[in-house]
Amino acid sequence: MKICLALWVTMLFSCAVKSERSWWKTMSIYQIYPKSFKDSDGDGIGDLKGIESKLDHLVDSHVNAFWLSPVTTSPMVDNGYDISDFVGIDPSFGTMEDFESLVKKAHELKLKVVLDFVPNHSSDQHEWFKKSVEEIEPYTDYYVWHEGRNVNGTLEPPNNWRSEFNGSAWTWNEKRGAFYLHQFTKEQPDLNYRNQGLVEEMKNVLRFWMEKGVDGIRIDACPYLFEDPRFLDEPLSGKTTDPNSKDYTIHIYTKHQHENYEMIQQWRDFIDEYSAKVDQVPRVMIVEAYANISSTMKYYKYGADFPFNFGLMDIVNSSEAIDVKNNIERWMTNLPSGSTPNWVAGNHDNFRLVSRLGVNRAMAITAMVLLLPGAAVTYNGEEIGMIDTPIDSDDPARFRDPARSPFQWDFTVSAGFSTNPKTWLPVNKNYLTHNLLTEKADCESYYSYYKALAFLRKLPAVQSEYLQLEVLKKDILAFARKEKGEKSVYVLSNFGDQIRTVSLGIFKNTPAILLVYRSTPGILLKPGSLVESYEVSIPPSATIVLMDI
Ligand code: GLC
Ligand code: MG
Ligand code: CA
Repeated sequence: MKICLALWVTMLFSCAVKSERSWWKTMSIYQIYPKSFKDSDGDGIGDLKGIESKLDHLVDSHVNAFWLSPVTTSPMVDNGYDISDFVGIDPSFGTMEDFESLVKKAHELKLKVVLDFVPNHSSDQHEWFKKSVEEIEPYTDYYVWHEGRNVNGTLEPPNNWRSEFNGSAWTWNEKRGAFYLHQFTKEQPDLNYRNQGLVEEMKNVLRFWMEKGVDGIRIDACPYLFEDPRFLDEPLSGKTTDPNSKDYTIHIYTKHQHENYEMIQQWRDFIDEYSAKVDQVPRVMIVEAYANISSTMKYYKYGADFPFNFGLMDIVNSSEAIDVKNNIERWMTNLPSGSTPNWVAGNHDNFRLVSRLGVNRAMAITAMVLLLPGAAVTYNGEEIGMIDTPIDSDDPARFRDPARSPFQWDFTVSAGFSTNPKTWLPVNKNYLTHNLLTEKADCESYYSYYKALAFLRKLPAVQSEYLQLEVLKKDILAFARKEKGEKSVYVLSNFGDQIRTVSLGIFKNTPAILLVYRSTPGILLKPGSLVESYEVSIPPSATIVLMDI
């Protein structure tokens, strides 16, 4: 019989003190993909009321904040990332009252609300774009227009810029008689940040949502904000002969322009001025940028609280302990001093963690996300170990829908996501056995593991900045989290295929006896048992979390 160690755990933490630093520095933040989280009205699409009805799950999972992928008005060409009204709620998600109610309920539950801010582009159905097409002021230059170039008598796009979703980044608009730029789909025209009016409009958007009570923003697609104004061809990468591929060119004029950072700084200042005026509570600013390490770190300097650290998503099945150590160290050593590290293992744009790595490695990575210093980011469904759902996709990037199937709440119709048996994306067939309800009842489930580790975040050692990271006996990735006078935490993951016995003597002041707080299911070292710290055996693929008694 399995015995949950709830009582023991409660006693253990009765002395944990709450951190007094800025709320986001050590937060656990949860990404909600609104279309797939919870449907309240039976149309098969998730909505705001659905989210509100499930906030207790976030509290239960020891989450401090959540960020919402866009809930604003959208023709849904890119599932909400094509916005036709930056200050309206899409009817499929509900109403502005529903949004206000969600924020209120979240705040009652001490959950911070972070919104997706999508500044690079709007939908082509946005009023601004329609008026820009007609050259109605002040909208004429709200977007990036170009008359094109004449190549041997035929009119062609101004240059060879490729869209992120492949093909030319330029589309001809008959009415205006010009090309407009779109770094994503042609229904997502890029906004022109060289136009001051537009810059002001977007600040008004920020103010609007802060007045609705949001506690911060996740800024979408930051590398794409500005383009080089000379409109020169980009050099060919030589990586592919397919001229339509986004990899055909090296994006030196369309990504990572210096002005992007200055814009981020402007938003920082704007948000801070608002906070200073209203309540002196800092709003968080998180940046989404797939970039090399130096371009990523630069966002810290220009006011981001943190750019997402996607590093752990590079871990593959063949990665060895040393690769993982290097991966973590690359982030930590490049991090500007005093900045907040953060760890992301999945999101709506990538395959599911368990599908990429299998359950055991996924659990090892989860231990890193939750127990390394800084902020932890969890994509909805990752806490219950959801896997990709095979889907014949009409997503513009083609491959992303498998990670977007509805959340698996229980074993009833549509996994409890909707009363409708037909949902916008199919529910994964494994929902009868893989769902929150079933996993909650099982101490050895993915969710029980996730939750136990998430709970450990309350310990001062995990809240601290201290990290000692080691590779032991080639296969064991080991790290210790410590805080003076407090209980320490040790995480050991075996990335090899053999059992390894290691000593933790390498870590500062390690006591002779340690407590097994948690281990991946199915191994001998059960939670609550004691081990000698100079001789800990870790089976292949297992993760063990130890702590001082
Ligand atoms: C971001 C979003 C992605 C979207 C793109 C364009 O990368 O995460 O889902 O398609 O921006 O807005
Ligand atoms: Mg609905
Ligand atoms: Ca742009």
